[in-house]
Amino acid sequence: MKIITTVREMQAEARRIRSAGRIIGFVPTMGFLHAGHLSLIRTAREKADIIVLSIYVNPTQFGPDEDLSRYPRDFDRDEEMARRAGVDILFYPSDSEIYPPGHRTFVEVEDITRRLCGASRPAHFRGVTTIVAKLFHAVQPHVAVFGQKDAQQAIVIRRMAKDLNFDVEIAVAPIVREPDGLAMSSRNTYLSPDERRDALALYESLRLAEERIRSGERNAGVIIESVAAHIRSKTHNRIDYVACVDAETLDPLETVSGRVLIALAVSTGRTRLIDNIILDV
Ligand code: PAF
Repeated sequence: MKIITTVREMQAEARRIRSAGRIIGFVPTMGFLHAGHLSLIRTAREKADIIVLSIYVNPTQFGPDEDLSRYPRDFDRDEEMARRAGVDILFYPSDSEIYPPGHRTFVEVEDITRRLCGASRPAHFRGVTTIVAKLFHAVQPHVAVFGQKDAQQAIVIRRMAKDLNFDVEIAVAPIVREPDGLAMSSRNTYLSPDERRDALALYESLRLAEERIRSGERNAGVIIESVAAHIRSKTHNRIDYVACVDAETLDPLETVSGRVLIALAVSTGRTRLIDNIILDV
């Protein structure tokens, strides 16, 4: 596995791979890899010859009161995991490589970035689309893989790629869960044992919503309230939002029909967790 730390070298390597007629699959991450990332790598491997994994904790997608400084980092462990997972190139740029002095340009997708997570994290998606656009220019992938856990992020990035004519396929891999249902996240390491127990209510509530829909409930308000009530029944949980929206447009639904995304964000103690399910109704 090659480790590359500069954009210029990454671009030169991408040019070499492309001119040899090989397909580049890209998995962007913020490191502290877990089984969810490994499944993104496997999805990329199904679609590409050369796998590039980036590790970069992107400061512009964190709000001023968020967890940038305590975000978990362990490069040696990540390097070992990436190597074992068969990553070909690990792109590991520094802050000054990505945002050198004088950097003034940001990429912003309108409207859909103000909803759901965007309502309480106003600059978050601007940071995400900016770094993903920059990483796409560095890595020049044919296909890039994102996780369904960040459902809104995947939709926003698809929109950006289409609007800015990036010649890249955006693939989305399913959520990977712990055996007890908690969606895998690097932030799960913040949870105390009590908080972790209460966090199980997130997926439980989504399963309850699915059951209610399967047994005929179509009123989105009723579904949302039942999800919220289950989450609130655990002492450490504070709801940011529970939403029932169209899975393509993120438009809020009154009646549950079509491809439906039920998404939620909850603070469990000091840790903000997200989860979702998509249902074809
Ligand atoms: O999903 C993530 O880990 C990040 O938002 C991403 C896509 C790597 C951009 O920093």
